[in-house]
Amino acid sequence: MSEEIIVPADLSKSEKYEVLFSQVKALLEGETDLIAAMASFCAALHHGMGFYWTGFYFVRDEMFVLGPFQGPVACLRFPVKNGVCGAALRQGGPLVVPDVDKFPGHIACSAISRSEIVVPVVHREGLTYVFDVDSEKYDFFDETDARFLTEFLTLLPA
Ligand code: SME
Repeated sequence: MSEEIIVPADLSKSEKYEVLFSQVKALLEGETDLIAAMASFCAALHHGMGFYWTGFYFVRDEMFVLGPFQGPVACLRFPVKNGVCGAALRQGGPLVVPDVDKFPGHIACSAISRSEIVVPVVHREGLTYVFDVDSEKYDFFDETDARFLTEFLTLLPA
């Protein structure tokens, strides 16, 4: 198992994701515990891509409940109908928000966040979660992030 994540700073965003993918795949190889895998997944993507906040929220009893994450402390729970997370879940696919202040209902866990992407995952019956990433820069996320993050999420154990 690889224990060090290396992503050269001078690569393009797509190249960074490509270099990271094989490393995250190797990191999670054979791991069957979802929480252990999610925790490592967050650490690798957070530090590898230079995100501000990177984490999971589980859907439980009509609430989003915080799961493994990297970055500053964040909201522990909020109603499933709220926020960018709620909108992404209703949409059923990745939601990119270039400027969180212009998104009605955005939940500001941190005043430093400027843009955000949320990818909802129906993992299996009875287990739904979202992968939420924040940046301190405006317009940080786009279709490339949506595509790669969706692909990365398939590396998590069943
Ligand atoms: N901004 C999110 C809440 C979670 S934090 O970004 C960690 C939202 O509006 O759903």
